[in-house]
Amino acid sequence: MFFGRVLLVWVIGFSCLLSFAFGATILPDDEVEILRQIAKKLGNTNWKFSVDPCSRQGGWVSPSPNPNDKLPNGVTCNCSLVNSTGCHVVSIRLKSLSLPGVLPPELARLPYLREIDLTRNYLNGPIPPEWGSMRLVNISVLGNQLSGSIPKELGNISTLVSLVLESNRFSGVLPPELGNLSNIERLHISSNYFTGELPEELARLTKLKEFRISDNHFTGKIPNFIQYWTNLEKIAIQASGLEGPIPSSISLLEKLTDVRISDINGTGTAFLPLSKMENMNRLIMRNCNITGKIPAYLGNMEKLKTLYSLSLSLK
Ligand SMILES: *[C@@H]1O[C@H](CO)[C@@H](O)[C@H](O)[C@H]1NC(C)=O
Ligand SMILES: *[C@@H]1O[C@H](CO)[C@@H](O)[C@H](O)[C@H]1NC(C)=O
Ligand SMILES: *[C@@H]1O[C@H](CO)[C@@H](O)[C@H](O)[C@H]1NC(C)=O
Ligand SMILES: *[C@@H]1O[C@H](CO)[C@@H](O)[C@H](O)[C@H]1NC(C)=O
Ligand SMILES: *[C@@H]1O[C@H](CO)[C@@H](O)[C@H](O)[C@H]1NC(C)=O
Ligand SMILES: *[C@@H]1O[C@H](CO)[C@@H](O)[C@H](O)[C@H]1NC(C)=O
Ligand SMILES: *[C@@H]1O[C@H](CO)[C@@H](O)[C@H](O)[C@H]1NC(C)=O
Repeated sequence: MFFGRVLLVWVIGFSCLLSFAFGATILPDDEVEILRQIAKKLGNTNWKFSVDPCSRQGGWVSPSPNPNDKLPNGVTCNCSLVNSTGCHVVSIRLKSLSLPGVLPPELARLPYLREIDLTRNYLNGPIPPEWGSMRLVNISVLGNQLSGSIPKELGNISTLVSLVLESNRFSGVLPPELGNLSNIERLHISSNYFTGELPEELARLTKLKEFRISDNHFTGKIPNFIQYWTNLEKIAIQASGLEGPIPSSISLLEKLTDVRISDINGTGTAFLPLSKMENMNRLIMRNCNITGKIPAYLGNMEKLKTLYSLSLSLK
């Protein structure tokens, strides 16, 4: 009886020791080495390599300097992935740290990485084409000094749900391969120097919920194919370079809650038939060469909080 209890305690104690000794929460050496190379490329000195990266200690998890960032910065590991033993890096979040480096191609050597968030740093240089081999879900490099065009290889990331490239110095035309991002819900590329027409292949992005392309140098008309984006909730096309008219097929997008279209030249349109969009919350249409009457249905948009529709030529 007494002996039995001692044995039980001993067995439990030993198995705890075992799981510790065999590293139930310890990152394998090869991934640690890759993190070392990544830190060097980013110019990140916040990680202490004397401490296990999965321990959430030693600078591997820390609050973002920006109090508006809800999630902490850091490296997240998952030690219970399906079909895989040991721990692996699944997310790297380094926001508002003034990182001075470049985007590391080495990220592609972390096979379980699903999220990269490098929002608001001073990173420069291009997006490495190597990233195209990853199975990422979320990418954000918002608010850096990145340049070059979007590599066509990014179109290979069929798992991608959110791509945020806003407020950088990206240029060039959008690669048609972006039309292969069949799971994408959020595409934010405002405030860059993109040129050319929107590729027709984007018509296939039918899961899109948010599309933002404001403040760019695109050419051509606002494409009629946006009518296929029937899950669209938010759209921002302000001073994008695109010309009107705003296609009337936008009326098919009944889930829209936030529409910001402004500063488009070209043929005028009548006020859009948006009467089915009962959840409209914000509607900004400024300098869009809209003519005609303000439609009565605006009075039925009960959730509408903001309406700017200046520079209309009303009759
Ligand atoms: C780890 O991955 C598994 C399988 O995808 C998932 O069920 C689990 O919630 C993840 N654990 C953590 C801590 O993220
Ligand atoms: C795990 O492996 C099995 C058999 O190879 C496969 O059918 C399944 O899709 C895999 N699961 C994941 C999440 O990769
Ligand atoms: C992607 O980002 C969303 C929040 O925007 C989050 O809920 C989700 O868990 C992230 N996915 C991964 C795989 O990190
Ligand atoms: C992208 O996918 C194509 C095939 O669809 C493949 O030939 C190419 O090597 C892939 N590129 C990368 C960077 O993974
Ligand atoms: C990706 O897009 C390109 C150009 O639109 C196309 O030629 C290619 O076949 C697509 N690849 C895959 C794997 O769907
Ligand atoms: C629209 O036309 C005006 C006047 O011709 C021009 O100054 C402006 O740059 C044009 N805007 C765009 C977005 O093309
Ligand atoms: C507005 O549209 C009319 C035709 O509907 C066109 O004549 C005029 O040039 C357009 N104005 C601008 C600023 O593009």
